[in-house]
Amino acid sequence: MNVIGIIGSPRQNGNVSTLVDEVLKGAAEAGHSTKAYRLGEMKYAGCQACMYCKSHDKCRQDDDMSKLMEEMKTADAVVFGSPIYYWQFSSQFRTFIDRLYMFLGQDFSVTLPAGKKAVVVTSQGNPDVDSFRNVFTDFNKLLEMYGFEKVDELHLTAGNSPSTAKENKELMEQARSIGKTL
Ligand SMILES: Cc1cc2nc3c(=O)[nH]c(=O)nc-3n(C[C@H](O)[C@H](O)[C@H](O)COP(=O)(O)O)c2cc1C
Repeated sequence: MNVIGIIGSPRQNGNVSTLVDEVLKGAAEAGHSTKAYRLGEMKYAGCQACMYCKSHDKCRQDDDMSKLMEEMKTADAVVFGSPIYYWQFSSQFRTFIDRLYMFLGQDFSVTLPAGKKAVVVTSQGNPDVDSFRNVFTDFNKLLEMYGFEKVDELHLTAGNSPSTAKENKELMEQARSIGKTL
């Protein structure tokens, strides 16, 4: 299987990065090919609403997101990772989401092949996991619309320090095991 990880935090050694990488490590141990996309290191713009993608099989913008969008087509599993910034996913991650508009055809039917597995990884400063439940639930709607099968989710709380995930042995083991069973 081809498994890709999307890291929506600009902190390259932060919690989202640590957990997404750990899921990918587990997947690699299970014999899958893996690749991580670090949105904080990529240069890309948001959807321009030009509708070019409604008559072409691609986005008009040719930037660092182009390769990831191509890879989304063939990936068998995607690990979606984002921190919570101001009651939402990070702008890096939300801008990535908007670019998924290219996978809706002229009649708004989904053009992304269905049946891909999805894992959702989030990290937040707030210790209460339910504080942003609405964000997770809304993202589930997107996954459902695009035909993903969500296999698991990991939510790190009280994660203001970038090493919170690394110090949480149980969560790290859970992340590795999710990757292994993809
Ligand atoms: C700009 C910004 C906004 C944030 N907003 C929130 C917030 O609304 N709620 C919250 O619980 N944590 C918030 N945080 C804290 C992050 O979600 C938290 O530190 C998270 O663990 C970061 O993930 P990372 O380690 O992968 O970068 C914010 C952090 C930043 C930098």
